[in-house]
Amino acid sequence: MYWRFLLAVAAIAPAIDAAATLRFSCSQLVVDRLDPLVNPGALPSPHLHQIVGGNAFNTTMDPAAHDIPSTATCTSCTPVEDFSNYWTATLFFRARNGTLHRVNTFGNELGFTGATGGQTVYYLSSGKVTAFKPGFRMTVGDPTIRSAAQLQAKYKFPTCWNGELDSPDHQSHVAYPNGNACPASHPITVPQVFYETYWDTRPFNNQADWPTDGSQPFVWSFGDKLGYGIHGDYVFGWRGDALQRAMDQNCNSDLFQNKINCNTLKTQSLADANKCTISRKVTDNLDGWLTTLPGDMPII
Ligand SMILES: *[C@@H]1O[C@H](CO)[C@@H](O)[C@H](O)[C@H]1NC(C)=O
Ligand SMILES: *[C@@H]1O[C@H](CO)[C@@H](O)[C@H](O)[C@H]1NC(C)=O
Repeated sequence: MYWRFLLAVAAIAPAIDAAATLRFSCSQLVVDRLDPLVNPGALPSPHLHQIVGGNAFNTTMDPAAHDIPSTATCTSCTPVEDFSNYWTATLFFRARNGTLHRVNTFGNELGFTGATGGQTVYYLSSGKVTAFKPGFRMTVGDPTIRSAAQLQAKYKFPTCWNGELDSPDHQSHVAYPNGNACPASHPITVPQVFYETYWDTRPFNNQADWPTDGSQPFVWSFGDKLGYGIHGDYVFGWRGDALQRAMDQNCNSDLFQNKINCNTLKTQSLADANKCTISRKVTDNLDGWLTTLPGDMPII
């Protein structure tokens, strides 16, 4: 048994005439308590993340101070020009005795079983889109939400952009379309980005370790035991116009294979993508059974 988790970073349901459907694997780059977007400079950031993409990932990633594609020397994603970073919270198993164990990610069984964890990334379009620009970043979701009433708000992400690279809340520079049209305030249609992550819960199948009240035993690293506060972070880092070219040429991927049908994108094997890793900067213990979540995040 495993948990498959799909996180929409920008959303409208892909139209039937979807023009570009780029889907690829990004292996695990690092699991660390860093968040250069929401908590730049914080070493450590409040909660633990699993991060994929280019190895320029750092405690601080000020777009004015360094250019991601020229800082990075490798990427854990298969398109070799994608040095973006994609990250989410991590999952923990809470045993009946209250101790916690980190759950690993594993390669998507549809084509990417050779990946050392990480996640599957999608860029979709249903017509002409404008790719993100250097310095662009955004978050989706809200780690403080614990109510199902807002489930849609955190999963449905905007595909309309006002042209600013960021905003104070990292979200208001992007917006929802009205029907299929972008609002006048955010007139630029951008690709739809999705993350898909497989969590390997198989080591935790022993029902004797599960709660006696029938509740589910998994909690997110930010202390959410319900799952509504899930969120994701995106820092654009494609080299040059590679993403724009791929979207313009309606590049697509074979759904069940590690294969991008795209003359304009150079790709690497999963084995080579797996080789791009960085070491953790925050060295608190993440292995074995823990008495608290990293950062002592309260579970609520
Ligand atoms: C991360 O930031 C530190 C401090 O600015 C710098 O010394 C280091 O080279 C950076 N690492 C990468 C991979 O950019
Ligand atoms: C808590 O439960 C886990 C899973 O059964 C077990 O491996 C661990 O040793 C237990 N820890 C304590 C302190 O009892």
